[in-house]
Amino acid sequence: MASAAWAVLQVLLLLPTHAWSPVGAGRPPDCDAPLASALPRSSFSSSSELSSSHGPGFSRLNRRDGAGGWTPLVSNKYQWLQIDLGERMEVTAVATQGGYGSSDWVTSYLLMFSDGGRNWKQYRREESIWSEVVYFDGQSALLYKLDKKPLKPVRDVISLKFKAIQSNGILLHREGQHGNHITLELIKGKLVFFLNSGNAKLPTTIAPVTLTLGSLLDDQHWHSVLIELLDTQVNFTVDKHTHHFQAKGESSYLDLNFEISFGGIPTSGRAWAFTRQSFHGCLENLYYNGVDVTELAKKHKPQILMMGNVSFSCPQPQTVPVTFLSSRSYLALPGNSGEDKVSVTFQFRTWNRAGHLLFGELQRGSGSFVLFLKDGKLKLSLFQPGQSPRNVTAGAGLNDGQWHSVSLSAKWSHMNVVVDDDTAVQPLLAVLIDSGDTYYFGALYEQSCEAHKHRGDPSGLYYIDADGSGPLGPFLVYCNMTDAAWTVVRHGGPDAVTVRGAPSGHPRSAVSFAYAASAGQLRAAVSLAERCEQRLALRCGTARRPDSRDGTPLSWWVGRTNETHTYWGGSLPDAQKCTCGLEGNCIDSQYYCNCDAGRNEW
Ligand SMILES: *[C@@H]1O[C@H](CO)[C@@H](O)[C@H](O)[C@H]1NC(C)=O
Ligand SMILES: *[C@@H]1O[C@H](CO)[C@@H](O)[C@H](O)[C@H]1NC(C)=O
Ligand SMILES: *[C@@H]1O[C@H](CO)[C@@H](O)[C@H](O)[C@H]1NC(C)=O
Ligand SMILES: *[C@@H]1O[C@H](CO)[C@@H](O)[C@H](O)[C@H]1NC(C)=O
Ligand SMILES: *[C@@H]1O[C@H](CO)[C@@H](O)[C@H](O)[C@H]1NC(C)=O
Repeated sequence: MASAAWAVLQVLLLLPTHAWSPVGAGRPPDCDAPLASALPRSSFSSSSELSSSHGPGFSRLNRRDGAGGWTPLVSNKYQWLQIDLGERMEVTAVATQGGYGSSDWVTSYLLMFSDGGRNWKQYRREESIWSEVVYFDGQSALLYKLDKKPLKPVRDVISLKFKAIQSNGILLHREGQHGNHITLELIKGKLVFFLNSGNAKLPTTIAPVTLTLGSLLDDQHWHSVLIELLDTQVNFTVDKHTHHFQAKGESSYLDLNFEISFGGIPTSGRAWAFTRQSFHGCLENLYYNGVDVTELAKKHKPQILMMGNVSFSCPQPQTVPVTFLSSRSYLALPGNSGEDKVSVTFQFRTWNRAGHLLFGELQRGSGSFVLFLKDGKLKLSLFQPGQSPRNVTAGAGLNDGQWHSVSLSAKWSHMNVVVDDDTAVQPLLAVLIDSGDTYYFGALYEQSCEAHKHRGDPSGLYYIDADGSGPLGPFLVYCNMTDAAWTVVRHGGPDAVTVRGAPSGHPRSAVSFAYAASAGQLRAAVSLAERCEQRLALRCGTARRPDSRDGTPLSWWVGRTNETHTYWGGSLPDAQKCTCGLEGNCIDSQYYCNCDAGRNEW
């Protein structure tokens, strides 16, 4: 168990004080004993420290040693404090306190825990306590013989938590004489519950029931399952999502054997073998009608038959996946800076049709590249100075929730992207490639200039993604960091255009503006903004605005919903006046606009 501090000020995080107890160690729980205070300094580590006397080892409660607490080098939300409790512990409370003799303290933090310090999970209130663990290596199973035939109707309750290493395998199975069975199986990361209450010898009995819940459950995190079964009524719960089901039909009870297997379906017969792919991963809190099955197995009770190599600790995986919980989360990893090649391989999986996977810059201003998903296909966009972006596409249907491997490499004059077995090649325009300092995985664009300002970024050109992980792509803007963060969206045209007259009745479209962002991107950016301004001025000289005969407007501009406007920069929609008209200082007081006066001297 350890903790990450998400500090806001210069902070000190001290934990925990009260109440911890080892689970299942035979000792009565002592829920008042402080836990962290007794640990040696070496059990504490942190992201950084202000000085050696502000190190993580000083983060114990009610102590004055060192500078009186832990203070990280910088105050931001990426600072963490980690505490190694040595073994699995149940922590029931956490307390923090300000540094001794200082007025700084942590105001909020996330609490994360891990079995081995590699794969971390955020603590949430509903996490249940740990119990004994049983590990199946994909070639093993536990067979539990129920005591004796109970009186009907019988309500079966099976609960367990599982952590899968592979995405397919049998979690539990029970069968009867006539083809009746219940089976819980992990199939491509989803949990499938099969109920066959049919009797093969009776043609009119109940049809098999298949319920599927969850997805991406093979993420090496614990997931809970609860199955309640009363005859053919089923409540199937996976991670708090419950499915109620009642099988329709005449007969309404399952004639099942008094054996239930976990981890695989052993064949009947003396030598064990499995009829279906067995489960590879760990189970804990495994209860059948209130009986702790793991406990029985561990004590080698006669009700339990162990097949294959069943062990009672959960191994740590060699590689751990990183989950991007929001479109704003990302991972920055050091690149092989200065080398003349780019080489990145990774695996990903997602249900999203679109999203960013990787962003990297080539050094010495030679460009940048983005690897992203669009419509379930992998795209590589290469940006090089003076060139329009060039793209290649590889793979299809990649948003199917399964793992896909990606390899990106660039050397000399080509950039290669391979997804699974599909390769795409993009020629590079500049031959020399220098890979950049950092690769960014996951979301790589802030949503607004405001977000850049919060990060402390200066004024400059930035890509922003106004709808986050939505379907709209990022676009380039200038963020002007004044008191507020102004997002300046540029258009592609010149700043001033000379407009020639056109015969009346044949209006000419003089200028159209192509913004660096699409209409949808602009709308998304505008809807995030507190205020939006666009300035369009007409230097009319002697060109009258309305026709002097009937007052019909001779110049106008067209807005984004195709509505026509006849006012210009400096004026207001219904004023019918130029700035000088509003200010009362026009050259000829008969007119509200200098151009309407037909005079040359202004
Ligand atoms: C299923 O859940 C409902 C509501 O929680 C409960 O009333 C019912 O008894 C449950 N069924 C079984 C078979 O446990
Ligand atoms: C059984 O599993 C344990 C732990 O995974 C392993 O150390 C041991 O080598 C395995 N034994 C056999 C016979 O496979
Ligand atoms: C390549 O993709 C970018 C967006 O990433 C797009 O703006 C550009 O027009 C595309 N270029 C070509 C040649 O399709
Ligand atoms: C940024 O804003 C300031 C203050 O409004 C303005 O003077 C300046 O011209 C702006 N810069 C750009 C590049 O838009
Ligand atoms: C505006 O008019 C153009 C062409 O006249 C048309 O293509 C476009 O869809 C219109 N837009 C709206 C929002 O009505």
